[in-house]
Amino acid sequence: MSKAKFITFEGVDGAGKSTGLEWFADALRQRGIDLLVTREPGGTPLGEQLRTILLNQPMHIETEAMLMFAARREHVEQVIRPALQRGTWVISDRFSDASFAYQGGGRGVPLGKLEQLEQWVHGDLQPDLTLLFDIPIEVARQRLSGNLSLDRFEQEKGEFFERVRQAYLARAAKSAGRITVINAGKTLIEVNKELSNIATSI
Ligand code: TYD
Repeated sequence: MSKAKFITFEGVDGAGKSTGLEWFADALRQRGIDLLVTREPGGTPLGEQLRTILLNQPMHIETEAMLMFAARREHVEQVIRPALQRGTWVISDRFSDASFAYQGGGRGVPLGKLEQLEQWVHGDLQPDLTLLFDIPIEVARQRLSGNLSLDRFEQEKGEFFERVRQAYLARAAKSAGRITVINAGKTLIEVNKELSNIATSI
């Protein structure tokens, strides 16, 4: 039996990653792969409580970074690692790349501090594959504009998301073997086709 894979989905809010994730997960299930879909922040009872706080409660930027990694610690130990060990693939809607993009790029938390937290929380575990949904910020913002209630991150200005996008792309350039950039500005049919191809070849 081949090793269970850990796959993460990333991108700015409004890039279409959650829709893409569902399509990709279905494509893997059609291959008969045993799969668990989870998300961050969240994925455990404590993590979901932290998510509510993180998305609603104003706080210092480093408190935000540490709470993201605290939720992740729980997620890795309670959910991700046990699933991989029993041979179940894991797809997570966001993981640490989001902390580097949002807390690092968006908020300005120094990279070195985030690297320390990453090392502490999952030094020996990295995704096998990360699909980064990339899209111009104006397009992402337009897609979000229909939402009635925007959370603390979605309410941020365009410049914030521009920094998030650039931080994601910089990370993709550094980890080209792990991170695949999906041009999410293409039509849904084209994006889904690309996802299906990846799902059949992984
Ligand atoms: P998101 O996946 O966008 O949830 P939804 O699609 O339900 O809105 O995640 C919620 C927000 O959390 C998103 O704006 C990005 C932010 N976030 C961080 O800032 N850092 C992190 O490490 C993670 C995992 C998420």
